[in-house]
Amino acid sequence: MGTEKRKLAVVIGGGNGIGAACCRLMAERGWALAVVDLDLANAQAVAGSLGGTAFALDVSDYDQVTGLSREIESALGPVDALVVSSGTFQVKGPAEKLELETWRRIFAVNLDGTYFANRTFGTAMAAQGRGSIVNIGSIAGLSGNPLHAYGPSKAAIINMTKSLAGEWGRSGVRVNCVSPGLTLVPRILERQRTGGRYAGNPGDFTALGRGAEPSEVAEGIEFLASDRASAITGTNLVIDCGWEASCGWQMYGGVRQD
Ligand SMILES: NC(=O)c1ccc[n+]([C@@H]2O[C@H](COP(=O)([O-])OP(=O)(O)OC[C@H]3O[C@@H](n4cnc5c(N)ncnc54)[C@H](O)[C@@H]3O)[C@@H](O)[C@H]2O)c1
Repeated sequence: MGTEKRKLAVVIGGGNGIGAACCRLMAERGWALAVVDLDLANAQAVAGSLGGTAFALDVSDYDQVTGLSREIESALGPVDALVVSSGTFQVKGPAEKLELETWRRIFAVNLDGTYFANRTFGTAMAAQGRGSIVNIGSIAGLSGNPLHAYGPSKAAIINMTKSLAGEWGRSGVRVNCVSPGLTLVPRILERQRTGGRYAGNPGDFTALGRGAEPSEVAEGIEFLASDRASAITGTNLVIDCGWEASCGWQMYGGVRQD
């Protein structure tokens, strides 16, 4: 890496799944890392293996987010990129049966948390005149589905990303979103093993006939975070093995199989 200072990325939700895969890829590409998670032990395990620094955070708590931003800046210096991969999930069900507590928890972590992190780190980046933010949406935010809190929370993240791109673009800050489809993180692999949530194998509903590896989603995140995406802001990059592309095919019995 020579004597040049490495760029610093903060990955919230970096302790597991897509966030952890993103930390691994970013370390490989020369980024210095602050690995942030509600689960400090997981964040420490990821950071420890990559020469990064671990921090504990509940992203839905605004004071904790602003405190973390100060702590990271004084310990590691100015932040070049923020990835918000923290998220919480729900089981499918009828709208009238959704517990209001579940609705509030999903919005608190997914939407409030993403906004709090964007607002805090984005403001600091705008003041320094450079920076890049990548939020994580979902294909669940692009179409109707029986996840009545999760889907809208993700749709709002995609919209918020566009709004914030306009907010800070002239200050040198880019804000983008990656919307994964089914991604084979440990949480999903465990759910597939125990069964129950999906009708059949969800990979069958994609053009490629499979779900994405976390490392494949990380590629899109790292690209958008990096200067290679210097002209891209306000976009939503869908990484879904062609799930969206194959939706219309379902009416005709599914995509071509041979
Ligand atoms: N895996 C998929 O199929 C898939 C598909 C579409 C979108 N996504 C999105 O990708 C992101 C990552 O999901 P994943 O599948 O890697 O899940 P995951 O559960 O493997 O990782 C999420 C991480 O967020 C952390 N987290 C949860 N609540 C937090 C909080 N309040 N504060 C800080 N950290 C918190 C968890 O501890 C965990 O380490 C989420 O936003 C999710 O909605 C995932």
